[in-house]
Amino acid sequence: MAGDSVVLWWLEVESVAAADWPRIEALLDDTERARARRFHFERDRLSYMAAHALARGLLSAWAGGEPSAWRFTVGPHGKPEVLTPVTAPRLRVNLSHTRGLAAAVVAEEHDVGIDVEWLDRRPASGDLARRFFAPVECAQLEALPPAMADEAFLSIWTLKEAYIKAIGKGLAQPLDSFAFILDPLAIRFEAGMEDDAADWLFRQFRPTPRHLMALALRHPRPHGVTITASAVNADRLCRQPEAAGPGRISRR
Ligand SMILES: CC(C)(COP(=O)(O)OP(=O)(O)OC[C@H]1O[C@@H](n2cnc3c(N)ncnc32)[C@H](O)[C@@H]1OP(=O)(O)O)[C@@H](O)C(=O)NCCC(=O)NCCS
Repeated sequence: MAGDSVVLWWLEVESVAAADWPRIEALLDDTERARARRFHFERDRLSYMAAHALARGLLSAWAGGEPSAWRFTVGPHGKPEVLTPVTAPRLRVNLSHTRGLAAAVVAEEHDVGIDVEWLDRRPASGDLARRFFAPVECAQLEALPPAMADEAFLSIWTLKEAYIKAIGKGLAQPLDSFAFILDPLAIRFEAGMEDDAADWLFRQFRPTPRHLMALALRHPRPHGVTITASAVNADRLCRQPEAAGPGRISRR
């Protein structure tokens, strides 16, 4: 059924040979290329380029056409949305980049969000959790030995980011208005928040030993959704799509 598939690609930035970056840059549009040039650190520029190339490559693998030709609008809180013809299924995309890793996800119709984080980031997790997380999230972290609390903090962080990116509100959504329970994985909404946990699918991934990734999808039948998640390299990313066909990669 349309909208029951989600495809997610990630790319390890260090796996890309220097000679392949021009091919990846060629997938971007002029605005993205100009923005990429403005990054101070090369590592940030490369993961930015990789994430935007992944989103474009994934859209073209799904629906055909040139990756650099996709156009986007931006929602009131900054969420990019694909401009597709009104007759086509509405394609939805989200991307994320962190040190050493980029990821993108495509779905049809439904709200989708993704977040990746670098585990060595070693945040001052206790302070940040007390400042931003819901009490039930803080309590889960406090119950863990310090060595496990940092990773659990980043697990909750990536899930919260994936959720606020799926709903498109970014940090306009108070981060303590909803909470994640890690085991078993579930979301809880505070009183006054109009959302329903039964409409959500969340997944966590460990794409590399140094990174965490979380996916959030709003869907009327979350248990019927097929998620295809794969690491791609520069060759796969830059491969020209074959004959166009909506949802082709999702139905392989
Ligand atoms: C912008 C935000 C949506 C994500 O920021 P982030 O996690 O730093 O960055 P990511 O790499 O995961 O995602 C950035 C991409 O999300 C997309 N994006 C931007 N605004 C978005 C929004 N409102 N909703 C969904 N996606 C959005 C864009 O494609 C953006 O790419 P670009 O910056 O290269 O143009 C927002 O949540 C933010 O500013 N977060 C800051 C971190 C923070 O304090 N988190 C607290 C978590 S507990």
